[in-house]
Amino acid sequence: MVGTGYVGLVSGACFAEFGHDVVCVDKDESKTARLLRGEIPIYEPGLDQLVADNVRAGRLSFTTVLADAVPGSAAVFIAVGTPSRRGDGFADLTYVYAAAEEIARTLDGYAVIVDKSTVPVGTGRQVQRIIRETRPDADFDVASNPEFLREGSAIEDFMRPDRVVIGTTSDRAREVMRALYRPLFLLETPIVMTTLETAELIKYAANAFLATKITFINEIADVCERVGADVQDVAKGMGLDGRIGKKFLHAGPGYGGSCFPKDTRAIAQSARQAGAPLRLVETVIAVNEERKRAMAERVVAAAGGSVDGATIGVLGVSFKPNTDDMREAPSLDIIPALQQAGATVQAFDPAAVHEATKLLPDVRWCSDAYEAAAGADVLVLLTEWNEFRALDLERVRSLLARPIVVDMRNVYRQAEMTAAGLTYHSIGRAS
Ligand code: UGA
Repeated sequence: MVGTGYVGLVSGACFAEFGHDVVCVDKDESKTARLLRGEIPIYEPGLDQLVADNVRAGRLSFTTVLADAVPGSAAVFIAVGTPSRRGDGFADLTYVYAAAEEIARTLDGYAVIVDKSTVPVGTGRQVQRIIRETRPDADFDVASNPEFLREGSAIEDFMRPDRVVIGTTSDRAREVMRALYRPLFLLETPIVMTTLETAELIKYAANAFLATKITFINEIADVCERVGADVQDVAKGMGLDGRIGKKFLHAGPGYGGSCFPKDTRAIAQSARQAGAPLRLVETVIAVNEERKRAMAERVVAAAGGSVDGATIGVLGVSFKPNTDDMREAPSLDIIPALQQAGATVQAFDPAAVHEATKLLPDVRWCSDAYEAAAGADVLVLLTEWNEFRALDLERVRSLLARPIVVDMRNVYRQAEMTAAGLTYHSIGRAS
């Protein structure tokens, strides 16, 4: 497993749990040293235990030396980062291609080189070409095996996926991939066996569709507010139609994270280059960006038209619960906009404070939700961590300077807020 980022580490640990021997390689010496000491560099529930168990069982190890990992492997996964390239939004494939070249140099027998990173259509063929050029004598095939893990439930998503997608170029590669995922086939997990290009596109199409679904319900939420409807009931009424499905219809402050923003930009860019622009996805990207920016204005409106000199308490800054990931989190748009409008921001997050401190200067970091509420003119619930779902509302009321709550995740109901003496604003529900 080349790359011990989020995808590489979770996949490596899970393949080891399936009973395979896994060697994870990462150039980053300090990260590898931490992993060797049993420290997990990311926040993912259950991952520390899974890594520890498999290291102890002798199935999982870590190294910085690629040549210690590749020879003798049936499959070599490329799970390095593919960030958005500055300027054009295209996926930056430098790390993928560098890994392919290095892997080629150390190949000793037949191996399947598998792209696990989310990569644009055509990358698998390019990896194949690079390996062939670097090592004309190499015996290998290339495969694409996109991951569909959600941060916060990555292990469950790996162990019990809705489907496994595998794109290959030969029967031999197909058999290797089948053997790797054998435990899942015993559970009757559907597999989509297809070509390299199709597998690569499935991943982007799935993420673009989910981002579209979220953006759709977010716009419906805006309509609900204008006409006095309730977006949660609309989502329920729509979602019970099996053709629509109820998931990913939670209205909120706009999608963020390391995947949807990056992948929607990348597929829009590739599609344009291919001469088949995805106008719908391009609109989704623009609407979501505008939405994140517009969320600060809601707080200003809730405060009565100005937050100049006001204190705003914020609950949750990570892009979603159960992660310390701050990438493209709505908080990164909302908090600076409030500060620029003259507000002082005090915030609490159960996991992301360390990450957030670097990205959100001048925020006063609190040690729990109640401290973030203390003395605030408005309390904003931005990320739906479980511990914010059952706040003592009477206590919140007594701590706030003004009794105003803006709930951007629709965690509470109007009636309970009113009963506690709080003025309540939420998303897509008549206040
Ligand atoms: C997403 C996909 O769900 C995974 O299937 C995929 O493997 C992953 O991207 C990836 O490409 O690596 P993730 O970014 O971890 O996973 O998180 P999600 O749970 O999908 O949430 C993404 C964003 O959408 C969050 O900001 C979340 O708050 C928002 N969201 C999600 C909503 O606003 N409403 C919803 O109904 C669902």
